[in-house]
Amino acid sequence: MSTRDEEKAAAARKSLEYIQPGMVVGLGSGSTATLAIRQIGEQVSRGLKIRGIPTSKNSQALAQSLGIPLLTLDDVDAIDVTIDGADEIAPGLQLIKGGGGFLLHEKIVAAASKRLVIVADQQKKVAELGRFPLPVEVVRFARAPVRRKLQAMEANPQLRSGSDGRPYVTDEGNFIFDCSFGSIPDPAATARELKSIPGVVEHGLFLGLASLAIVAGPGGIEILTV
Ligand code: A5P
Repeated sequence: MSTRDEEKAAAARKSLEYIQPGMVVGLGSGSTATLAIRQIGEQVSRGLKIRGIPTSKNSQALAQSLGIPLLTLDDVDAIDVTIDGADEIAPGLQLIKGGGGFLLHEKIVAAASKRLVIVADQQKKVAELGRFPLPVEVVRFARAPVRRKLQAMEANPQLRSGSDGRPYVTDEGNFIFDCSFGSIPDPAATARELKSIPGVVEHGLFLGLASLAIVAGPGGIEILTV
């Protein structure tokens, strides 16, 4: 296991401390969240009673294979805690998410959660968001006009491809443009501008959503709060 994988595993392990019996738990997506789901599955097999709400088909399949009982958002008023990864974590727990392509469901689950706990290795910590390409999810019909708007924002939008070379299609049947801003000095303004484009369904800026981040590095675990 590489050092980075060990760090992800350490952060995932620590996140179990934020889960109590009886809770409804949002199950994130991506490699670090996957490690957390595996840890949760292990605890469930030892008798922990929680119910999960997955943020992607991948997380749903994994949780089912581990015997974690699942609910949907139709079944609950709120999620007690969600454990999810991030692509970038800036001061104030401003995040870029969606590298795995699941940003829409991740954001819906995050917004429905009393607490969003981010698990990450230290390479995700940045002083300012924007080095990681920001995913922007668009309805297929709007691909061309949205691309032009994103080009006007100097975002250098690249339509994401799947492993078959065709455009990547999200769990909701949309496309993703990965936008290389380089830096995003005012994430709230960028978020507003993106949301104002007809055809943009969601973007990977998660602002004001995370309560806490567990960041693992060579020196141990650091807990970041807002
Ligand atoms: C999935 O869409 C993402 O938001 C992930 O949470 C994010 O890409 C982090 O993934 P890793 O834990 O694999 O780095």
